[in-house]
Amino acid sequence: MIKKFIPFGKPYIGNKEIKFIINVIKSKWIGSGPITEKFENNFKKYKSSRYALSVNSCTAALHLSLIYCGIKYNDEVITTPMTFASTINSIILSGAKPVLADISPHDFNIDPKEIEKKITKKTKAILIVHLAGLPCDMKSIMKIVKKYKLKLIEDCAHAIESRYYKKHVGNFGDTGCFSFYSTKNLTTGEGGMVICNKDYIYKKIRVARLHGLSKDAWKRYLPESVKTPTKFEHYDVTEIGLKYNMIDINAAMGIVQLKKIDISWKKRKKIFEMYKKKLRNLPLKFQEFSNKNIKHAYHLFLIVVDKNKTKKNRDDLILFLKKYNIGCGVNYRTVTDMSIFKKKFGWNKNTCKNSKYLGDNTLSLPLYPNLKTKDVNYICETIQKFFKS
Ligand SMILES: Cc1ncc(COP(=O)(O)O)c(C=O)c1O
Repeated sequence: MIKKFIPFGKPYIGNKEIKFIINVIKSKWIGSGPITEKFENNFKKYKSSRYALSVNSCTAALHLSLIYCGIKYNDEVITTPMTFASTINSIILSGAKPVLADISPHDFNIDPKEIEKKITKKTKAILIVHLAGLPCDMKSIMKIVKKYKLKLIEDCAHAIESRYYKKHVGNFGDTGCFSFYSTKNLTTGEGGMVICNKDYIYKKIRVARLHGLSKDAWKRYLPESVKTPTKFEHYDVTEIGLKYNMIDINAAMGIVQLKKIDISWKKRKKIFEMYKKKLRNLPLKFQEFSNKNIKHAYHLFLIVVDKNKTKKNRDDLILFLKKYNIGCGVNYRTVTDMSIFKKKFGWNKNTCKNSKYLGDNTLSLPLYPNLKTKDVNYICETIQKFFKS
């Protein structure tokens, strides 16, 4: 047995991140400022979007997006049940009601046919998640968005590198929301980004992410940024804002991480393909995708215990892997299993059956650039051992 624990996720951080962060700490300003602005510029260039606005989490990005796409009390927002709590929480906190459309049992993303069934007079928006980094069926989703004149928000927490027919995900919707949480493909410790291509949304979110202030604090704080020294300019409050801004310490890390994004992606792709090859003869299912025009971000490698082929169960496999010093994640238990949502919306095991099946039988294996080939072999051999035991 391997002595050292193999964690589920491990950030790809080097000396360059550390040096840059130290430089920022030693500088005159560590809050939201010039480094944050540089990170935004680099990110929007990478994503080919008009605007990028940094925030302190993807949850903040989703919350701001919903508010400034005009979602209000009593509106309905259609979303996937196969997601993290924050997707649902942000809809509820914007005042709207989350309405679930089940996932496809093939690619595990929201099923466009299910979306159309859930549209009512109250539907104002669709909030999709590109699960594990695999883009949703954007052709069908965009048809629905146009037909019913809905807003579209993309939860791209897993999908920094993802493209659909060359177009970067996040650019299909009114906004695209990214996470830089510590296990994500690009990390700033905690952090997030909203990308958008519409002026009015950009202008609102830019101000609302920092208390609704008309001027950023660093633009008032640094002496060199005072452009009219003869007349002191006070700030105004022009929106009802929140405190969702990113700071320069985190942005410094983001700038270096973004430079390595392609190297990191290639390394994860190799591991992803090794898993698929080595585990193909076991009673497991994987996320299906064969379209060459789709770029997967390889954020997560999901395996699903195939109940048609084995009596073994997922939770026993998690415990077995732990015993052999292997960490793993569950992405996700379906949101219809979460007690607060069950109580609030009456969701149950029959609400979204495909999502329930996936949530009960899936787990995610370690996937990060520095995972060694020998560790991947060991993980696969341990899973084989489990099914033989
Ligand atoms: C699909 C999805 N959406 C949103 C989030 C929230 O991201 P953050 O932790 O940056 O708020 C996560 C976090 O893991 C996620 O997986």
